Amino acid sequence: MDVFAHRGASGDHPENTLIAIERAIEFDADGIEIDVQLADDQVMVFHDRWLHRTTNGNGRLRDASFAQLRQLKIGDDQQIPTLLEVLDCIQGRCRLNVELKHKEVAGPTLNALEFACQQLAFAPQQFIISSFHHRLLAKLSQQWPQFDYAGLTASVPLDLAEFAARIGCSAIHLDVANLDDDLIADAHRRGLQVRVYTVDEIDDVLSLQAQGVDGIFSNFPARAIAALKQQSS
Ligand code: G3P
Ligand code: MG
Repeated sequence: MDVFAHRGASGDHPENTLIAIERAIEFDADGIEIDVQLADDQVMVFHDRWLHRTTNGNGRLRDASFAQLRQLKIGDDQQIPTLLEVLDCIQGRCRLNVELKHKEVAGPTLNALEFACQQLAFAPQQFIISSFHHRLLAKLSQQWPQFDYAGLTASVPLDLAEFAARIGCSAIHLDVANLDDDLIADAHRRGLQVRVYTVDEIDDVLSLQAQGVDGIFSNFPARAIAALKQQSS
């Protein structure tokens, strides 16, 4: 079972920052999940719509200029990174799940991923593009078929696996609270992988592996990786 660092190694470092990403790579995470949004025509790696929870700023991310965003602090010494900075930091050393938080960010994001395949040592199969916006994924998987797509849900829609396969996804990403054995079996029958967020408890890590889940998103990837190693030794 693959372990993805959720927003980087965000249990120990500020989420969606370069330090959290570097630590996830040091921990040997199979992949890293980040959130992207557009602000001032730049693809910024940031989860919330509002700035106050994780930075020393206020207001909406989308209303700030790039110069204003760059002045904000996250923790002691981090700032909101751009997608290009994150791609340059990883340089193909692990997979990257880019979660599109809204429609407008999709085009510039996919262009940046294409650039990363040409210039930054990534292979297209290392990228997973996910979103709660399934209509958006349906369009993107047609336009950029070289990348992997995953339909994100916070619920368990009746035809989720059937729909995800129809719109060109190779995986579904589910909330751990909603995991359902029938859904896992349905997805696997259709050739889809099943990844689950957000998994920080070791009991959950081990039982998800036993259930046949293909990947988890954890804020504490080192802990999850160590538990899986110990179990297999
Ligand atoms: O991509 C998995 C998970 O990150 C989805 O929810 O709110 O943490 O971005 P959220
Ligand atoms: Mg996310």
